[in-house]
Amino acid sequence: MTLLDMLPSIGHAAPRRFDPAIWPVTTRSDDEGRLCVGDVALSDIADEFGTPTYVLDECDFRHRARRYRRALRDVEVVYAGKSLLTTAVARWARDGGLGIDVCSPAELAIALAGGVDPARIILHGNAKSPGELRDAVAVGVGRIVLDSAMEIAYLAGLARRRQRVLIRVTPDIDIHGHRAVTTGISDQKFGFTLAADKAAHKAAHNAADNAADAVKRVLAHPILDLIGLHCHIGSQVSDPALYGEAIHRMIAAMADIRRRHGVILTELNIGGGHAVPYVRGDAELHPEELARVLEDALDDACAAEQFPRPAVVVEPGRAISARAGVTLYRVHSVKERPGGRTFVAVDGGMSDNPRVALYGAQYTVALANRHSLGVKKVVTVAGRHCEAGDEIARDIKLPADIHPGDLLAVACTGAYHHSMASNYNMVGRPPLVAVKDGRIRELVRRETVADLLARDCG
Ligand SMILES: Cc1ncc(COP(=O)(O)O)c(C=O)c1O
Repeated sequence: MTLLDMLPSIGHAAPRRFDPAIWPVTTRSDDEGRLCVGDVALSDIADEFGTPTYVLDECDFRHRARRYRRALRDVEVVYAGKSLLTTAVARWARDGGLGIDVCSPAELAIALAGGVDPARIILHGNAKSPGELRDAVAVGVGRIVLDSAMEIAYLAGLARRRQRVLIRVTPDIDIHGHRAVTTGISDQKFGFTLAADKAAHKAAHNAADNAADAVKRVLAHPILDLIGLHCHIGSQVSDPALYGEAIHRMIAAMADIRRRHGVILTELNIGGGHAVPYVRGDAELHPEELARVLEDALDDACAAEQFPRPAVVVEPGRAISARAGVTLYRVHSVKERPGGRTFVAVDGGMSDNPRVALYGAQYTVALANRHSLGVKKVVTVAGRHCEAGDEIARDIKLPADIHPGDLLAVACTGAYHHSMASNYNMVGRPPLVAVKDGRIRELVRRETVADLLARDCG
């Protein structure tokens, strides 16, 4: 228990030890100053499961799912499994009334094993194989999002009953300058370009790469039931107006399809990409704000095109799973470079968190096994891998007395950590444990040297 915990009024003057915008909803410190999540001291988890370990706050995940459902009442919320998926996580999403989007055979298998109704599963991917499409059709996935002309031909050839499909398009919304990853522009690998996007249309060498042609191809196969369009404008989008803009462009494209082909598409999926804060002050996209913008944009766009209001689908991943996760690392060494940085080396790194090396991501780190009221110093938390750039957090403040054996917790690591982990340096992937009401449940066990050797055929 910190002074701050005991006297909340001083919170106005001092920054809180754990920013509630970043840490899991159940984060607190116990009487010994240890960091706790889900009423479990993180140092107890580290003792039992070793480090590094991914810890998931079940309450946080369920809370985010519920908040989405409440805020976006007239919108279907489909959880993006690529951000984090285990059978338990799939069940939490299902219990919260969410569908699941998957983009690989294993993600599909996990969602099914988690008890998700196949009708509530959406299959994505820009390079789906005929085998993957066949398996998805066989289990009865509700919707398949088509990404290439080849895929349309494959699916039409192997479907045995009517399959609901959407066409993924790029609405040409460039979210650069918004500290985000862009996928909604034409010059990237996903989907078909919109015919309305004249420059991209002209530049497209192959007519088969544009949406108008894709619609024609799909409609030529009556076994494919074209119900709508899909777009995903990027990641870490904090300005809801960008989704409003996407709605306008997509409704215009749907009206164009009605004009050309006489078909009225009834579903509009605007993907995910909702921003979450990783460090204090980062912008966040609130589902309530998003709901207001979507509502207004739909009203305006449908009125302008005299187009019937389609069912709207959103696919948040990170916004539901990121803040539930905390990664635990043991400090192995502290090196002070004369005239340079202080490196705090831990037992994980880019194999369990590739986002720093990939995107220059920033993180919030806390000492988890004790509370130090002493002075702080600026350090770099370095990983264990054979890359100079293997860092978890650069130039952050930690207690000056940090030493080998201390336990660090890194916040906001629920999304794209477990799901993006690798075996670099033949390091086994960490376990994933869920905490709730003082109980710990192992969801995925640690990958061992024996696991790694078992795949080596000699
Ligand atoms: C099609 C699609 N939907 C949803 C998402 C989820 O994005 P986020 O986790 O940023 O919400 C992604 C992420 O890449 C995506 O490609």
